[in-house]
Amino acid sequence: MSTVQTARDALTDLTPSRERILADVVAGLSRQPRQLPSTYFYDAAGSALFEQITRTPEYYPTRTELALLQRCLPAVARAVGPNVHVVELGSGSGRKTALLLAALVDPVAYTPIEISRAALLASIDRLAVALPEVEMLPVCADFTRPVTLPEPEREPARRLLFFPGSTLGNFEREQAVNLLRAMRRTMGDDGLALVGIDLDKDPVLVEAAYNDADGVTAAFTLNLLRRLNREIGSDFDLTAFRHRARYSTSALRIETDLVSQRLQEVRIGGQVFVFQAGEPIRVEYSHKYNDAVFDALLAEAGLAIAARWDTAPAYGLRLLRAV
Ligand code: AVJ
Repeated sequence: MSTVQTARDALTDLTPSRERILADVVAGLSRQPRQLPSTYFYDAAGSALFEQITRTPEYYPTRTELALLQRCLPAVARAVGPNVHVVELGSGSGRKTALLLAALVDPVAYTPIEISRAALLASIDRLAVALPEVEMLPVCADFTRPVTLPEPEREPARRLLFFPGSTLGNFEREQAVNLLRAMRRTMGDDGLALVGIDLDKDPVLVEAAYNDADGVTAAFTLNLLRRLNREIGSDFDLTAFRHRARYSTSALRIETDLVSQRLQEVRIGGQVFVFQAGEPIRVEYSHKYNDAVFDALLAEAGLAIAARWDTAPAYGLRLLRAV
């Protein structure tokens, strides 16, 4: 059997069901202010649109992090040692993973946990060919819910969690602490985690990154409604909601809304939701950090910084260990 087929056969599939999505959507829209979970951005089209965002001139985080990774991976590999099981949260295209796996000494296995089945299979297909010695153990799941990790055939020395892209920033403070605590448990006492965080900077630069001139980000945000219409049979009018992303300099975060352009009704799972003209649905946070804020999160989660790297425009990678 080919390495690609073996990797696909190893897939653990925990894709959220229609019922799960419908329940989350109804719960979020029943709150005031209304909200929708940003994890549902990532259907096949959403993952492709996110890849397109990373290539816009305004969206600095991806290319900044890639350059920083190239620079710090030799030091990461020395700190981590040989024979690790790499576990990635929200792996997306896997472009950064290839760099990480190539830099490590004899990694035993790789487990991407990714909610988009299409993105997961495509990235695993590519990695299995490029790195045939690494056992591919993919899991299709929402990484914020508990996942039992597949055990590699070869005994790993330790686990290395990889959480790049400042995806941590999508979580509100309490959820972020819970997620870091879960990572601490998954790592074990001698595991490590390599985490990418976007840092607080000039609000003009941050806002531009979430309002690119070509409207790719707006299309990405609106795709959430298209996905819901298809998967849970809602009837959102995509022309009657508009993307809005603003940087809050007090909360240090991008707040992204879909704003209703008129008074309208939307049918979802037998219920009718009324949206006023100008009423927002909060669909995403992208927190930006400084040392004080990030150190406080780590302290609450029982984690500490083992090594750190920073670059301009302000972006950081942190190697974390258990306290
Ligand atoms: C990959 C989830 C971290 O919040 O910056 C990009 C997603 N949203 N543009 C981010 C995103 C709008 C991105 N994350």
